Amino acid sequence: MCGIVGYVGTKPAQSILVNGLARLEYRGYDSAGIAIIDGSKIGVTKTAGRVADLISSIAADQGSYTGSVGIGHTRWATHGAPVTKNAHPHSDCSQNVAVVHNGIIENYMQLRDELIAAGHTFTSDTDTEVVAHLVEQMGDEPLEIIVRNIMEKAEGALAIGVVRASDPDLIVAARRGSPLVIGFGDGESFLASDIPAILEHTRRIAIVGDDNVVSLTPGGVSITDLAGNPVEPVVRDIEWDLESAERGGYDDFMLKEIYEQPKALTDTLAGRIDDHYRIHLPELDLTPREARAIDKVFVVACGTSYHAGLMAKYAIERWTRLPVEIDIASEFRYRDPVLDDRTMVIGMSQSGETADTLAAIEYAQAQGAYVVATTNVVDSSMARVADSVLYTRAGPEIGVASTKTFVCQLVLMQILALYLAQIRGALDGATVEVMAKSIRALPDQVEKLLERADDIMEQARKYTDVKDVFFLGRGVSFPIALEGALKLKEIAYVRAEGYPAGEMKHGPIALIEKGVLVVGVATKSHLHAKTLSNMEEMKARAATLFMVLTEGDTEGQRLADDVAWVPPAPELIAPVTAVIPLQLFAYAISKAKGLDVDKPRNLAKTVTVE
Ligand code: G6P
Repeated sequence: MCGIVGYVGTKPAQSILVNGLARLEYRGYDSAGIAIIDGSKIGVTKTAGRVADLISSIAADQGSYTGSVGIGHTRWATHGAPVTKNAHPHSDCSQNVAVVHNGIIENYMQLRDELIAAGHTFTSDTDTEVVAHLVEQMGDEPLEIIVRNIMEKAEGALAIGVVRASDPDLIVAARRGSPLVIGFGDGESFLASDIPAILEHTRRIAIVGDDNVVSLTPGGVSITDLAGNPVEPVVRDIEWDLESAERGGYDDFMLKEIYEQPKALTDTLAGRIDDHYRIHLPELDLTPREARAIDKVFVVACGTSYHAGLMAKYAIERWTRLPVEIDIASEFRYRDPVLDDRTMVIGMSQSGETADTLAAIEYAQAQGAYVVATTNVVDSSMARVADSVLYTRAGPEIGVASTKTFVCQLVLMQILALYLAQIRGALDGATVEVMAKSIRALPDQVEKLLERADDIMEQARKYTDVKDVFFLGRGVSFPIALEGALKLKEIAYVRAEGYPAGEMKHGPIALIEKGVLVVGVATKSHLHAKTLSNMEEMKARAATLFMVLTEGDTEGQRLADDVAWVPPAPELIAPVTAVIPLQLFAYAISKAKGLDVDKPRNLAKTVTVE
């Protein structure tokens, strides 16, 4: 998730681009850069670091570029470390083209090999650079036609902005999946991946449609589809103030991030399931032989990541038949666990910086274990330490309570488990296919579920004054119950306990009485009937039941006081949708209490102390 900005007009482009990037920094802040057409050449300034570092680089450059056409970018690294050579804009061999890009070009390796064979020299590790060389390779064709061709060739979700020295008054942009907006001014036109970047200049905005190509000139904007047919933009007047625009019009980053989950899942899955439903994880730097030699897996993590790790235990054990231990990182690092060179240790962390998880994987590595890090932050400390890194590609998460990174961790662990099962021959192809199809359906299912978000929040608000809540689940629903309880504790300050539903009878059931709310995660599974029996036990003791059920489950519905419905899915895939009503539940109660959901008391997004 990166930020793109573009300007064509008569004013100096530099300050418009830099200010726009500052507004987009929440989308990524690994590196930043601008390209401005200056006479017959393109001047590029870029640097690792934040927009403030870019401003220093521009000042140091002295020869600041004075042109009135340019593009800018702030990066959230996906391909290639966050160093200056990988910062955008990227150029072709002759420096006549500059490109900014958001998203992932899934077939970039193949395109890159073809371009290298045709004599092009690459200077970065990014997927983006292929676009600059493709423009160069296609010669003097009109830039709009070239960009259409590139959109046909490039696979995956992407948004691009391109300038060429021989077209001094033109930016051509295009998108598929990744967001892009255009702004209309008088004698000037704007491009951005998000509205805040250009809102101080114009409030007349249009969203660029999928597979549309846009030509921006000072005189206006023209849009075509990939076949070259004209597309009429739908122009709207934006009334938001700047602050709410940064949150995409949402009240809080947490809600925005909840709604970003379909896109975050799509990006995390990109390139990992092919059209034959085979699983690919080239980042797992293990030969099939080495992968087969692993005889035990540990998962270590903290907080929400620990709950994703707990789900991973169920998935890896069920699908690969490898034994898996799951540990809280601060316990693992001091408890002298039994590890050797046949042990895989998976450290899970959104930030990749959590002190306990980092120390845990360092400890594991010192014992000879093979360490895999899963994180959302490219080149984070854990990514640098680990033997292999698997990235969730959720984009920056700003709300302290994790939401979109959690669902991406769940699918990434499902993918890892299936991949290990595939290379170890533990599952037949047909089963892998069924699971892979179900995983692929998740972004759409989550999108549809979120259409009912207001109803779920309305139901939740009835429980605003609740004091005691148990979240119960069995099997793979147990980690989701734990996560639901943690969300409610974190942002709504309600005492909530996540518990295995079948264990309640061994003590906690003594706490059940009128006024206690029980949230039951009871999606369809081989334990469904048992979970419902446990819910009956709660109801018999006068608890109120709010249940997360699979659509069509009339049996469960009969028991519940309130139901949040989720779509049907295989048992081990279902947690991804099941957690979403619980995120909304905590969010609604926190808001109803007037609390700050993005910055809950006493908590930090990243904890780099023991
Ligand atoms: C902090 C955050 C939690 C997060 C935990 C682990 O406690 O407040 O939301 O789950 O750290 O963070 P990590 O970055 O390692 O996933």
